[in-house]
Amino acid sequence: MAIRVMAGLDEVACEAARIIAAKIGEAASEGRPFTIALSGGSTPKALYKLLAEAPYREGIDWQWVHLFFGDERCVEPRDEESNFRMVQLSLLEGIEIPARNIHRIKGELEPREAASKYEDDIKKSFKGFNEVAGGFFKGALPVFDLVLLGLGSDGHTLSIFPAGEGREELASLEATGLLVVDTDGPGPVSEADKQASPDIRRVTMTPTLVNNARLVIFMVTGKGKARAVARVTGGGEDGTPSPPACRIKPESGELLWLLDDEAASLLE
Ligand code: 6PG
Repeated sequence: MAIRVMAGLDEVACEAARIIAAKIGEAASEGRPFTIALSGGSTPKALYKLLAEAPYREGIDWQWVHLFFGDERCVEPRDEESNFRMVQLSLLEGIEIPARNIHRIKGELEPREAASKYEDDIKKSFKGFNEVAGGFFKGALPVFDLVLLGLGSDGHTLSIFPAGEGREELASLEATGLLVVDTDGPGPVSEADKQASPDIRRVTMTPTLVNNARLVIFMVTGKGKARAVARVTGGGEDGTPSPPACRIKPESGELLWLLDDEAASLLE
């Protein structure tokens, strides 16, 4: 695990954009598709806007890039809570990327059906990539080049929230062997958190799928995340149930935390 601490959100977004552009350039030079799962919420907007501007808009050969989503709220794609809509407005409208390279989670469908169709899309797409250039599977598991994640102040990531009344335990989700599942929302959230984590049913990649990626990047900023960052990067061993984000431990890939000073303020 590597942790890089920068002054603020702009610097974190710049560093993430630099890394992503470099990784895409490597893949394109080898003639292989680049697969990235985008995170939702609000933090990554600054990154997506950067990628939709010079020098990245023209500098990245988008035809090689396949954009997936780490998770989605179960709403119409035009809904203001939709992660796809956020990505569409901040990134997709600014770049020339083939429509077939955008792998949307169909949040407008019944959640279980949306999860199943998305898992099918991932498997079918990766099978096709593997015919172009090998290395897109480890056993039966698709290998994403990069998974971008955020972190909630409660230690959630993707749409995997701390267990609560009636909410499925993460273990039971993983026990299904599915790579994409539908989950409850965060449950009753504070007014402050309502914007970031609306209590809407979700569709999410599981840690099993994420942990098979070559590179996982957490982008986390702000004082409100400092405690969660300290708990998760410290392994969550403080006697209380460890936050869901502790399950993100890439098998053989890299784990990189891009933090601003505030989010890193409780790290020793
Ligand atoms: C979502 C995200 C979620 C997000 C965190 C952090 O759908 O909301 O996938 O996991 O990354 O809630 O959100 P912010 O970056 O907006 O604080």
